[in-house]
Amino acid sequence: MSALRSVVVGTGSCLPERAVTNAMLAERVETSDEWIVQRTGIRQRHIAADHETTVSLGTGAARAALDAAGLGPADIDLVICATSTPDHTFPATATEIQAALGIGQGAAFDLQAVCAGFVFGVTTADKFLVTGAAKRALVIGAETFSRIVDWEDRTTCVLFGDGAGAVVLEAREDEAGRGVLSSSLRSDGRHRDKLYVDGGPGSTGTVGHLRMEGKEVFRFAVGQVTDVIADAFARAGLGAAELDWFVPHQANRRIIEASADKLGIAREKIVLTVDRHGNTSAASIPLALDVAVRDGRIKVGDLVMIEAIGGGFSWGAALIRW
Ligand code: ACO
Repeated sequence: MSALRSVVVGTGSCLPERAVTNAMLAERVETSDEWIVQRTGIRQRHIAADHETTVSLGTGAARAALDAAGLGPADIDLVICATSTPDHTFPATATEIQAALGIGQGAAFDLQAVCAGFVFGVTTADKFLVTGAAKRALVIGAETFSRIVDWEDRTTCVLFGDGAGAVVLEAREDEAGRGVLSSSLRSDGRHRDKLYVDGGPGSTGTVGHLRMEGKEVFRFAVGQVTDVIADAFARAGLGAAELDWFVPHQANRRIIEASADKLGIAREKIVLTVDRHGNTSAASIPLALDVAVRDGRIKVGDLVMIEAIGGGFSWGAALIRW
């Protein structure tokens, strides 16, 4: 019997109905379309209405991923939701989504690695699946960052958006080399003050607002994140030349292109959605994956690298044979 691998069998996503352009934001804070596009590549982002929440968006994305996989609630025995913006301090967003989907078996829990949460989630699910501890996992990234940004702070509020994405991973015997091939995770909590939220249940008893030293984050992201990508390639015995698609966390077009250049990944292999989604933190990679699967770019057999860095700092990469 050959080894078990975690194979992606479906993707899905869900965005709030309302898209907010840079011009619309400029009516609220002192900014301009030109400044935002030039610095970040963002042209619009989706912002949740009152009735749209992390759970409702996450449930929408998960349902779409199940449909794409041709599976139902009875088929899933692990739900992992990566989020920094849960609807409630507890229970876990994953259990709320599990209930909304009618999944009554298996385990469900949240995972907190901020923008890197989806990569940490895929890596965690992979460990359950390849050891036989679970058979099929829903890995979801779901966020409503519009609820934690400081709408008075133009240096941060223009960057973020809301949304959710999901994948279904299935444990299969290694067929044609498909599945999660390798991953590499890192954290360094000494960088806490460069990107954090200034509140929480154990400190202020409030939700708090996102605070960021943009230049420092930019420098670290471009300088450091390539280590996990190089490590994921090395563990799989593969390199940038063999890659079909690079699907990074969608924070900033300049960070993404600088990282790709540094790694020798051709620009045409980058899946870029930051222009229309903004930075949706843990949701950004599964949202981008779903776009590229549905428009026919990512196909079975393609080699795909996902990569992200976020608050902590925490960062990671995973190499997947689709
Ligand atoms: N509109 C217009 N002007 C602005 C805005 C705005 N929204 N925000 C700041 N400015 C002004 C500043 O006040 C400053 O003006 P001054 O020169 O008169 O003082 C000027 O623009 C330049 O500001 P900087 O902060 O130096 O701008 P910078 O070129 O560093 O770009 C940015 C800022 C876009 C935040 C950049 O640092 C960046 O992309 N950092 C990465 C942060 C990031 O992507 N974080 C996402 C979360 S972490 C993650 O997901 C990886």
